[in-house]
Amino acid sequence: MRLFSVLSAVGGILFSSLAAAAGEAPAVYGVSTPGTSLVVKAEQGKMPRFLYFGPSIETPDIDFLCRAGGPVAYPVLGLDCATDAALSVVHPDGNLSLDMAVESVSLSSDEDSEILTVTIRDKVYPFSVDLCWKAYHDVDMIEARTVIRNDEDGPVTLTRFDSAFLPIRRDAWLAHLSGTWAGEARLTTEQLELGVKMIADRNGVRNSHNSHAEVMFGLDGRPQENSGAVIGAALCYSGNYQLRIDTDASDYHKFFAGINPDNSQYVLEPGESFETPPVALTYSIEGLGGASRNFHDWARAHRLAHGDRERKVLLNSWEGISYFITEQAMDDMISDLASLGGELFVMDDGWFGDRYPRMNDRSSLGDWTVDREKLPHGIGHLVQTAASHGVGFGIWIEPEMTDTTSELIETHPDWVVRIPQRDIVTGRAGAQVLLDLTNPDVQDFVFGVVDSLMTQNPGIEYIKWDANNSGRPNGADRYPADRQSRFYIDYHRGLASVLDRIRAKYPDLTMQACAGGGGRVNYGILPWFDEFWTSDNTDALQRIYIQWGTSYFFPAIAMGSHISASPNHQTARDVPLKYRIDVAMSGRLGLELQPRSMTDQEREMCRKAIGEYKEIRPVVQFGDLYRLVSPYDGKSVASLMYCSRDKSRAVFFWWKLEHFQGMSLPRVRMAGLDPARHYRICELDRIDTVPLPLEGLTFSGAFLMSRGLDIPVSHTLDPGHRTSWSSRVLYLEAVD
Ligand code: DGJ
Repeated sequence: MRLFSVLSAVGGILFSSLAAAAGEAPAVYGVSTPGTSLVVKAEQGKMPRFLYFGPSIETPDIDFLCRAGGPVAYPVLGLDCATDAALSVVHPDGNLSLDMAVESVSLSSDEDSEILTVTIRDKVYPFSVDLCWKAYHDVDMIEARTVIRNDEDGPVTLTRFDSAFLPIRRDAWLAHLSGTWAGEARLTTEQLELGVKMIADRNGVRNSHNSHAEVMFGLDGRPQENSGAVIGAALCYSGNYQLRIDTDASDYHKFFAGINPDNSQYVLEPGESFETPPVALTYSIEGLGGASRNFHDWARAHRLAHGDRERKVLLNSWEGISYFITEQAMDDMISDLASLGGELFVMDDGWFGDRYPRMNDRSSLGDWTVDREKLPHGIGHLVQTAASHGVGFGIWIEPEMTDTTSELIETHPDWVVRIPQRDIVTGRAGAQVLLDLTNPDVQDFVFGVVDSLMTQNPGIEYIKWDANNSGRPNGADRYPADRQSRFYIDYHRGLASVLDRIRAKYPDLTMQACAGGGGRVNYGILPWFDEFWTSDNTDALQRIYIQWGTSYFFPAIAMGSHISASPNHQTARDVPLKYRIDVAMSGRLGLELQPRSMTDQEREMCRKAIGEYKEIRPVVQFGDLYRLVSPYDGKSVASLMYCSRDKSRAVFFWWKLEHFQGMSLPRVRMAGLDPARHYRICELDRIDTVPLPLEGLTFSGAFLMSRGLDIPVSHTLDPGHRTSWSSRVLYLEAVD
């Protein structure tokens, strides 16, 4: 244990020189990342105090903080009920109080990080909590979580059990995401007022359609993109959550984040420990953009599956062909994709069902046998066809669900979640029901869905894992009367255990987390998944907003972003192909259409765009994101760019959002470039009959970032091809 080494450097432990000078055991401890520190005071016999979270701090400053003191680091409900608490319990004897104090402090490390653990223990009851802060060596991210342990002689009911508490100095602003199916990730930025602001989810199975478990706090007024202090926080959980910000007359907003205790009070058995999901915390003085880049770095390095692997350009069959899968149609899509330069074909919903063929969303989930009417030569044939065209093969499944019309429910009616005394609760199309993943037999079945596909067709390299149903049931008949409220928590444990098994056996498989679009865009599901389907809405204009919000927390490499047909399937909006391409290229590019419905000219445009995307892919997928003009700012445009780490390459995206005669658009200042270098500009996905005036020209990074570029309001096109839409993708390459 290196509790007392003085390190203000990366990944070290910090302590107060006061105590060290006096030869006493220091009571102040901290952890640090490359650019941030988190400091707590942990005196024996007292509750730990939160002293600091911010840019790297030095020992003399810690001494000052130590004298000044700070709020309790993890408020518990007990002797002081006036304020909100992170933890509340009912002891076996009915006592509702906690009175805790520091018992011990320890430091451990793994290859990525240092972990500070402060253990607090009740003064009377054998009940303890480890408060853990894990600081990464290579990114500015600290994960906070707790481990709650019951050593009492009977069960303790946890009525609130937050992962972490963070006091945030007033007066802060909050940025958060909310929405609905096909309208996910709308951004709200608001000043925090007196009272409680709560962001909560109770869906049970998927948790990000309506709100998100990730937030940003602006500490210097309304948060700005590239300046000002910002704290980002992401609860890494895929189940029900509750984020609360309690603002009273004190100096601090009190931020609590954890599993939502509504319907989920947890009975902790004697000898049992409860590990809460981590809350990832980051601090940046480079505004929202800096905090986002920290999340993206951490995601790629530590959270995403295969965060260092380039994603392939894929064609997904859903919007192109819906349930009407046939072998010929799949063969055609595969060869069309190959001719466009695509790299992976994904067969979506509609390929399965024997007694009940899947023709719509009212039947067949759970019957994961190939529909031989549609695919007489099975999946193996498609894998081979794909291989013969030099593309990979992927497949859609929704293994947590079944339908009221399915062979599975006939064989295993007891595998479906049911509330005692109630009728079964149905979801999608009035037919879809949830399998009870708390049941080990169901876990084996769900693992088996993937395992059989993979063992029978080892060529499968991608799985789109969908979840179109909400949890809905409140409780489950497998549980005794006094344990009903465990269901949702155990459901997600069951899911995690299945996914662990899948990843152990198939570490190279690429997996997309889809949940009726963006229902599972969270950091809790990520250790197992490579990417998200951020929305079922593929309308390019609305996608700008959806991807903008999502980019606050998640990197482009994790955002499936597909060129779809026009008019759009969800919004019926007509958007020209150029614009659709330019939006899709800003994420993980794919196609969501029937290539045979395109004209030759459109196919050629897609082929060219895919080729260009392959060139810029490393910059988009691994580069630093700079958001330049927000679609929420009412400036009629949105713009962002990605810069390679060494600042030698960049890709600039610009989309006009509305069109009026005589409109004036803002000049866009770039960001993230090297001011001292010079960059040559080349337009990608060009449709204009004449090049832009800046085409092929070289500009200094300083000029591009201080003055910026004027982008024309319209495209220059032949009469008859004119469009009110306008978008640009510029590739910048350093020439010196
Ligand atoms: C919802 C998904 O988000 C869609 O992409 C598609 O896979 C459908 N489910 C299929 O039912």
